[in-house]
Amino acid sequence: MRAQTSALRSKDLLGIEPLTPEEITLILDTAEGFKEVSERPVKKVPALRGQLVINLFMEASTRTRVSFEIAEKRLSADTLNFAASGSSVEKGETLIDTAANLMAMHPDMIVIRHKYPGAPRMLADRLPASIINAGDGSHEHPTQALLDAFTIRERLGRLSGVNVSIVGDIAHSRVVRSNIHLLTKMKANVTLAAPPTLIPAQVEEMGVRVVHSLDEALEGADVVMMLRIQLERQGKLSFPSLREYYNTFGLTGERLARAREGVLVMHPGPMNRGVEIASDVADGPASVILEQVTNGVAVRMAVLYLLAGGHLAE
Ligand code: CP
Repeated sequence: MRAQTSALRSKDLLGIEPLTPEEITLILDTAEGFKEVSERPVKKVPALRGQLVINLFMEASTRTRVSFEIAEKRLSADTLNFAASGSSVEKGETLIDTAANLMAMHPDMIVIRHKYPGAPRMLADRLPASIINAGDGSHEHPTQALLDAFTIRERLGRLSGVNVSIVGDIAHSRVVRSNIHLLTKMKANVTLAAPPTLIPAQVEEMGVRVVHSLDEALEGADVVMMLRIQLERQGKLSFPSLREYYNTFGLTGERLARAREGVLVMHPGPMNRGVEIASDVADGPASVILEQVTNGVAVRMAVLYLLAGGHLAE
């Protein structure tokens, strides 16, 4: 499927849920064009010259924060990184006041990561700048799902009809919510696998299959996406022990050998090696985990470019 639209409808990217399949395809096609920029000796294009992008990260991040900053620099934008630590947030300044003060310095876009679901929407409703959700609590992480889709499409040539099994902490994951929205809109078949305590009630209503065994999830899968156990979002463990979790849901080389030949192993990172995934799998030939990271730059370039009003050449 090639993009049948040449622009995004909203000034913001708050999630995958509001996007149409045509908009998702537009972002992926645009990212395909931008991927080559990172392979040039001079890794820069002038698309966002003169635009100011503020990266407002109020929660920890390595991949998302760094790849947004690289994407902005490759598009020649001026970038400013704002962290809560060391700022007046520590003196009690609210998110809205912080954002309003940043807005007074005329940024064109604000990339925000925040622990509260809905924080990006709150800014989008109040500020004229484009707001990009870089992860809000357990709600959505749209650019992660887009880079995951880009990686699957690049490797397998399509999204429609691909069997994707997502295994792990479904209950606390914003990555899985965005991936379910994206993959079902693009007609992929999604299976979720986890202990019952890590599966939200009525998740099947999102158009996915739920199983409680890793072997069942691996059977027929073209892609297996492993998720981190988010200990920071769980009051207490939702299963007896990490060792027991690894023994039942950890992806080891022995278990992966039962999957279809050519299966792709993905993980959004950060990984808990020896909890949800064994090192020989994470670093093995089926793993595309670092390709996901590489592709994140191209996908974020595409999102920034399109929200700035850029059009895919027709
Ligand atoms: N995948 C992801 O969001 O990683 P970071 O938390 O390191 O940004």
